[in-house]
Amino acid sequence: MTENRVLIFDTTLRDGEQAAGASMTIEEKLAVAQQLERLKVDVIEAGFAASSPGDFQAIRTIAERVRGPIICSLARANPNDVDQAAEAVKPAASSRIHVFISSSDVHLMHQLRKGREEVMDMAVSMVKRAKRYVEDVEFSPMDATRTLPEYLYAMLTATIDAGATTVNIPDTVGYAIPEEFAQLIRNIFENVPNIHKARVSVHCHNDLGLSVSNSLAAVKAGVRQVEVCVNGIGERAGNASLEEVVMGIHTRRDFFELHTGVETTQLYRTSRLVSEITGFLVQPNKAVVGANAFRHASGIHQDGLLKERTTFEIMNPTSVGVPGSAIVLGKLSGRAGLRARLEELGFHLSQEHLNQTFQAFKDLADKKREVTDRDLEALMAEQRRTVSEAQTYRLDQVQVSCGDHIIPTATVRIIGPNEEVLGDTATGTGPVDAVCNAISRVVPVPNKLVEFSVQSITEGLDAVGDVTIRIQSGGKSYVGRGVSTDIIVASARAYMNALNRVLAITGAQAAGKGTGS
Ligand code: KIV
Ligand code: ZN
Repeated sequence: MTENRVLIFDTTLRDGEQAAGASMTIEEKLAVAQQLERLKVDVIEAGFAASSPGDFQAIRTIAERVRGPIICSLARANPNDVDQAAEAVKPAASSRIHVFISSSDVHLMHQLRKGREEVMDMAVSMVKRAKRYVEDVEFSPMDATRTLPEYLYAMLTATIDAGATTVNIPDTVGYAIPEEFAQLIRNIFENVPNIHKARVSVHCHNDLGLSVSNSLAAVKAGVRQVEVCVNGIGERAGNASLEEVVMGIHTRRDFFELHTGVETTQLYRTSRLVSEITGFLVQPNKAVVGANAFRHASGIHQDGLLKERTTFEIMNPTSVGVPGSAIVLGKLSGRAGLRARLEELGFHLSQEHLNQTFQAFKDLADKKREVTDRDLEALMAEQRRTVSEAQTYRLDQVQVSCGDHIIPTATVRIIGPNEEVLGDTATGTGPVDAVCNAISRVVPVPNKLVEFSVQSITEGLDAVGDVTIRIQSGGKSYVGRGVSTDIIVASARAYMNALNRVLAITGAQAAGKGTGS
């Protein structure tokens, strides 16, 4: 394959969501998919249809609502998985089924407990089955980097003959080293006789911190699809980070002589959305999208930058959509100013949504002298959470008394699923504990709070507090986020958000909606 476009296959909603604690509601998955559409990725792996009714429904909703990218579902090499994947992606304008099976001896022996010949037959027959439904079929030999090369070549040859249009080489356990991985790719081009009939892809995990390096080494060796996740989330240490792979190819066009179709100015916004939904905060020094990625602290660097930006910046922050902070809004700002600033940040609101947002903005501006871009992003995130259809219980009021001479006591008023007004009072070891106890008395979700953190969105005592709460319920971990200038209110919102997400995610699983069976 000699073409010079590298396809970006995003698996945030499948491999990314597999990360412990990254579960998303269907509504949240749709919001991420719509943002990936704006980002112009080529393929969205929207889930693993046979893994749960909730996953099936999410893929189907995305297939119905998202145009542009190819919508893909993962499937193990068995008939039920392939049939479910086909049913889930059916409404898509362009669809793909991604069939996978392990190929390394260690997996065959201990996990599948099957011989090489049987596994080869399963791979071939399931690619053929997928081909009955869609033209676009991807095949992955799982744990390819620890597979006997001759067996890998034979499996790729056979699955391409069976109709696979993309063959993906997963470094499932993040074991590869860039030079060695590039050599494996070159060997595949040399030893798989029909390789020119398929697109070659890679899927690298980050166990040794090499997922982006391995992906880029493979691109240089000739692959023309890379599988990535926003912010590098995914199983264990994650997958190759979308923004780093894309900006690597983009910034070093001189070296790769290749391009992607990604709208890079949407990278920052995509990163923020995924971080906000999953509760996985982006480390400040994260390449491309971290808060410090374009901050220059050293005097020498600042001096160079003032003379000529390229002295110390290889990427222009505007090229990845990092918002400038020149305009700061305040309580005298009007609706038009707010709309203009939000549009610059990529939020395009209807008149009704703008009116609601303006009210929330005014409330914030009354408490805070300056409303920055980061405050506006947090406000929009809070709006998205509070108007979400997945919000079964709504926090109406919270009141807390605390101090060093009284027992912290909280009273909450909550609107229930049928608009009924509910309320209760509880004590706790501190104000946050008291609030969570009071909410727990009203919202029937058994859970254990396992993580609580507060971040200040901007500097200063009047800063907005951004609370992340993680709870464990039914053996799974769920995140909740909440923002307010009052951190007790932010905590109450975050806890409510986590409980509502448990209800939305487990409700979709239990409902078994749209299994097609
Ligand atoms: O890591 C892996 O091998 C996978 C496959 C399903 C492609 O995620
Ligand atoms: Zn993976």
